[in-house]
Amino acid sequence: MKKLVSMGRGGSGKTTFVALMTKYFIENGDTPLLLIDVDPDQNLGEMVGIDLKEEGKKTISELLLETFLEGGGTTVGVPPSERIESKIWEVGLYEGASFDLVAVGTKFIEGCYCLPDAALKKALEGLTKTYRYVLIDSPAGLEHLNRRIASQVDDIFDIIDPSQKSFHHVERAYRVAKEVEIDFKNFYVVAGYRVPEELEVEIEKRIKLKYLGKIAYDKEVENYVLSGKPLLEIPSSSPAYNSVRELMKKAGY
Ligand SMILES: Nc1ncnc2c1ncn2[C@@H]1O[C@H](COP(=O)(O)OP(=O)(O)OP(=O)(O)O)[C@@H](O)[C@H]1O
Ligand SMILES: [Mg+2]
Repeated sequence: MKKLVSMGRGGSGKTTFVALMTKYFIENGDTPLLLIDVDPDQNLGEMVGIDLKEEGKKTISELLLETFLEGGGTTVGVPPSERIESKIWEVGLYEGASFDLVAVGTKFIEGCYCLPDAALKKALEGLTKTYRYVLIDSPAGLEHLNRRIASQVDDIFDIIDPSQKSFHHVERAYRVAKEVEIDFKNFYVVAGYRVPEELEVEIEKRIKLKYLGKIAYDKEVENYVLSGKPLLEIPSSSPAYNSVRELMKKAGY
C-alpha cells in the first residue's frame, strides 16, 4: 500500500491532480483507493463526485465536535484519537466501488488541527482495509507538513506555478519535509497548468529534484470544476488527463 501526496501553493492544481490521478488508477484497475482530503475547503470530494454530507458521512472535525462538545465528553484522561479512531471508519468513511474517501474538515479549533490530525493519524495507523494506494490531497502551503498526518509516504508531488516564489517553494518544501522528518521515497516536481512551456527548460535546469513534466491546460477541466461535474467523468482524451497519465507513468505507475 503506497501513500502519495500532492503539495504546492494555492490554486496550483493539487486537488485536480489528485482527482485525475484517481481516474488513472481506476482505469488501470489499481483499486481500491483511499482518498484523504486534508484541506479544510474540502474540494476533493466534489472533484470526484462525492458529497460526504449527502452520503451521511461526517468529517473528522465534525466527529470530534460531536464527541467532545455536543456529546459532553471530556478530553481528560483518554487520548482523543483513541475515542474517535473507530468512529472515523464507521461514520466518516465514504465507501465506494473503487475508492473510499475521508475528510479532515474545517478547522476544529481556530488555528489548530491538533485533535483532528492526531485522530486521523491514529486511525491511519490502525487501518485494516487494504488499499492499493492512499492518495492525500493537501492544503496550500507547507504548514501541513508540520501536522505530519502521515510520517511515512512514498511519493510527494509538488506542483509549481509560474513564479519566482514557486521555485523557492519547491526547495523549501523539500527542506521542510526533511526537517520535520517525513520519511518519503520520492520528491517529484510537477509543473502546474499555468506554467508556460518555455519555462519547463528553466525548471529542469534550476531544480535539482526529479522533474516529471507539466499538467496541460485544459478548458474542459475548468468547465467541469465550474459546473461541479466529477473529473472522473472527463473523457480519456482530455489533455490534462493525458498529461497526468504520462506523469504517473514516468513516476513508475
Ligand atoms: N489542467 C487544468 N487546466 C485548466 N484549469 C485547471 C487545471 N487544473 C486546475 N485548473 C483550474 O484551477 C482551479 C484550481 O485548481 P485546484 O483546486 O486543483 O488547485 P489547488 O492547488 O488544489 O487549490 P487550493 O490551493 O485552493 O487547494 C480549478 O478550479 C480549475 O478551474
Ligand atoms: Mg486543493
